[in-house]
Amino acid sequence: MKLRWVKFADDQAHLESLFMGKNCKALKINSTAVLLVKHQGEIHLVKNRCPHQGITLENAKCEDGKIVCPWHHYGFDLKNGRGAGLYLDIYPIEKREDGFYAGFEYFSIF
Ligand code: FES
Repeated sequence: MKLRWVKFADDQAHLESLFMGKNCKALKINSTAVLLVKHQGEIHLVKNRCPHQGITLENAKCEDGKIVCPWHHYGFDLKNGRGAGLYLDIYPIEKREDGFYAGFEYFSIF
């Protein structure tokens, strides 16, 4: 799968500031609505739309490695997106010398 890497934070301090004191923070990266998630010491980036009925996951909770939708409480694995027979899109994060990058499938951001 070909990925387009998009820088979204300059360094660790910038990354932390994006959370604004929360564990889940909605962002737009190149017009893609994503959710930046901090859970058990790891940072994840997922699509900010539940694959069940499409609502925002901004007020979701994280439990046992899953993000739990606030509407019907389906849980989706933060590493592979699986849950309830559905898949939540997840995006890889890469730390480079000049900052943090998110990987999007080539067609998904335009
Ligand atoms: S809308 Fe998320 S579980 Fe139903």
